[in-house]
Amino acid sequence: MINCTLKKNNYFCISLFPFSLGKMPKLQGFEFWRETLRGAHYVVAPMVDQSELAWRLLSRHHGAQLCYTPMLHAQVFVRDANYRKENLYCDVCPEDRPLIVQFCANDPEVFVQAALLAQDYCDAIDLNLGCPQMIAKRGHYGAFLQEEWALLQKMILLAHEKLSVPITCKIRVFREIDKTVKYAQLLEKAGCQLLTVHGRTKEQKGPLAGVASWEHIKAVRKAVSIPVFANGNIQYLSDVEECMQKTGVHGVMSAEGNLHNPALFEGRNPMVWEMTEEYLEIVHQYPCPLSYVRAHLFKLWHHTLQVYQQLREELAKAKTLEGIADVNRDLKLRCQEEIANQKEGEKPKGGLPFFHWICQPYVRPGPKETCKENGTSGSEGGVRGKRALEDEDDGNADILSKNKQKKKLRNPNKRFDPSLKRKRTCPNPDRHKEGERLLALSCSIKPPLPSLYSHYAIGENFLQLEQKGGLGNLGNRKLSLSGVDQEEGNSL
Ligand SMILES: Cc1cc2nc3c(=O)[nH]c(=O)nc-3n(C[C@H](O)[C@H](O)[C@H](O)COP(=O)(O)O)c2cc1C
Repeated sequence: MINCTLKKNNYFCISLFPFSLGKMPKLQGFEFWRETLRGAHYVVAPMVDQSELAWRLLSRHHGAQLCYTPMLHAQVFVRDANYRKENLYCDVCPEDRPLIVQFCANDPEVFVQAALLAQDYCDAIDLNLGCPQMIAKRGHYGAFLQEEWALLQKMILLAHEKLSVPITCKIRVFREIDKTVKYAQLLEKAGCQLLTVHGRTKEQKGPLAGVASWEHIKAVRKAVSIPVFANGNIQYLSDVEECMQKTGVHGVMSAEGNLHNPALFEGRNPMVWEMTEEYLEIVHQYPCPLSYVRAHLFKLWHHTLQVYQQLREELAKAKTLEGIADVNRDLKLRCQEEIANQKEGEKPKGGLPFFHWICQPYVRPGPKETCKENGTSGSEGGVRGKRALEDEDDGNADILSKNKQKKKLRNPNKRFDPSLKRKRTCPNPDRHKEGERLLALSCSIKPPLPSLYSHYAIGENFLQLEQKGGLGNLGNRKLSLSGVDQEEGNSL
């Protein structure tokens, strides 16, 4: 049996056996959510390479009530014992509950076999029906199954029948609310016990991610009799409250907001180096690949790295956890010096809501209006430049060739999705209407590179376009592009 206790800044864990409470009756729907998931409202999203055990523990320590594993590939999970060990069996800790293990799959038998091998390690099995990546298109999973209702019905029915834990699904919406509702009802009828609705369509990715439609989520919530989690647009605790109030959902899931501020669900915005120190301490207890750690810190330190560019290189070059801890100490010293030299009444630069050393959201620049093929434009009217990291990171890590995995280890920001390759076409033909100067500007914008930091190169241009076109009705939410993007652009 495991004995794992989590005290403030102290993580002890021994033994690697699954934490099983013995045979419990299989709870369903609301009973499952209330009892097994302890009525969780604050949920950390499944994130490939990023919702690993150490990050989950950090997030739980700061208010997260439920976490998902990164998406696991069902077929690989079934055939590869090492994959099972590395991605689940070695990552066991009773403090890491409730926990939902997510799979991508497109074959009912394989999905259930994988789920049977995972069910003793978690509280539910989730089927990923939301991944919009090219890799998911090629593998025929994620959002590319959303038209295959008969197949989905089979997969969920079988899982519902065979598993000892409930089956849940994470979906993207269709452009049409009606169809989204019917889709959700079909999943519920097949046996899905909890539904996470990411309020973006499969086409809303990359620079076209835009705003998630809470209207779609609200309609689904009304139409089904199982708990619903909303996903999309969550950067602050006040967004969580607003989302729950406006949509009536039972919980709210955050991915990017959580990565930029793991204390989001506490309603706090701590110093970035404090979160880093705590995270690194947990990683010592629960090791994960250094590439995950680096990727976390690139996001956590995002705004500070604009100011101290040299630290970016140091972080990229660091080869050990100690090396990374040294960079964090350096970052802390520089920021503390800056704080000591602050003049009274000084405000954060570039319109950031907080000073750069404070954990806060990052909003990516992007086109103002959704392109025609992009489906819904979001419930709040305007479409803002949120470029979901999902579109860069989601779903490819597990199925990369060995060579590519090695490359990725050397360079965690490297992307292999051909859909993200730089193209020489204008990413936003609609802008042509906005005059010749803008035409020239628009066509000189390169579509985002497949890199976490590629937006630096395009931020300023998009911002100017954005200013011309206005930002639309942004509602009360705090995703406003204005300040953040200006800073992104100006800091080039
Ligand atoms: C780094 C990263 C990895 C992700 N990996 C997964 C994944 O494994 N499975 C999944 O269903 N979604 C994945 N997503 C998508 C998120 O779970 C979430 O649906 C999306 O980012 C929208 O939520 P947000 O607006 O809070 O970022 C990932 C997102 C990010 C940023």
